[in-house]
Amino acid sequence: MNSRSKIDYREVLIPKRLKTIKYILLVASGKGGVGKSLVSATTALILAKNGLSVGLLDLDFHGPSSSVIYGDLEMPSEEEEGLIPPVVEGVKVMSIDQFVEGRPIPVSGKEKREIIKELLALTHWGETDVLVVDMPPETGDVLLASLTYLRGRRGVILVTTPSKLSLKVVDRLIRLLNETGVEIIGIIENMSRLELQDNKVSPFGVDAAKDLASRYNIHFLGSLPIDPEASLYADEGRADKITSTRFGLELEKCLKKTTLLD
Ligand SMILES: Nc1ncnc2c1ncn2[C@@H]1O[C@H](COP(=O)(O)OP(=O)(O)O)[C@@H](O)[C@H]1O
Ligand SMILES: [Mg+2]
Repeated sequence: MNSRSKIDYREVLIPKRLKTIKYILLVASGKGGVGKSLVSATTALILAKNGLSVGLLDLDFHGPSSSVIYGDLEMPSEEEEGLIPPVVEGVKVMSIDQFVEGRPIPVSGKEKREIIKELLALTHWGETDVLVVDMPPETGDVLLASLTYLRGRRGVILVTTPSKLSLKVVDRLIRLLNETGVEIIGIIENMSRLELQDNKVSPFGVDAAKDLASRYNIHFLGSLPIDPEASLYADEGRADKITSTRFGLELEKCLKKTTLLD
């Protein structure tokens, strides 16, 4: 008889690791390129600025980018308690990128699930009010696995652009989340308009995200402008500047409509 244990130690460790986190805020879109990472990274900074103890976990395999906004990240330090994330502007930041350093980037769904499991089992977040998670940009098994591991008090913020394609993917994601019973906190529409002095242009149309939210009885949290300044600061890793941009201020208004910041 094989006496080797069949218990996966990581599945035992993960709930212990997450126990010190009061709330897990999952930021999802189902599709890349809609600003999910910029929203995740900026949300974490806004919450920290408002006095909360915050972590940011970047699980965006297709080019981890929410963590990039925090500039040149130090590697997590290896302590007896586990991997301790570096802190930038008051946010504890951990990303797939730091974690897979020097190893080939996982490609298959199975490899991605293993990496997520390992990352969650090893990271020591300590007492944390909100862990913001930049979710894998897909609606398949990697997303489902993340939902399985990231248990606790939690809710999802959905990010979409006003484009039909993005809305269609979010529509599918809403149905999937409803099936899994995960609470949806609300929808944020990103890149909704370009503001040129007094002129506001909505190149992708208006109200479609609001309509989608009301169709599913989901809270519409607001819409964010296309903001070249926020994009520039993101590219330059200026986490210290993003919250005071137009994008950052509008996002803060969206968050104030939730119980995260009221
Ligand atoms: N509202 C916005 N205004 C200007 N640039 C934006 C906005 N939202 C996102 N971006 C930029 O668009 C690009 C894609 O955004 P990102 O957050 O990486 O998308 P995703 O994570 O959904 O793939 C990034 O360069 C980001 O800085
Ligand atoms: Mg991203």
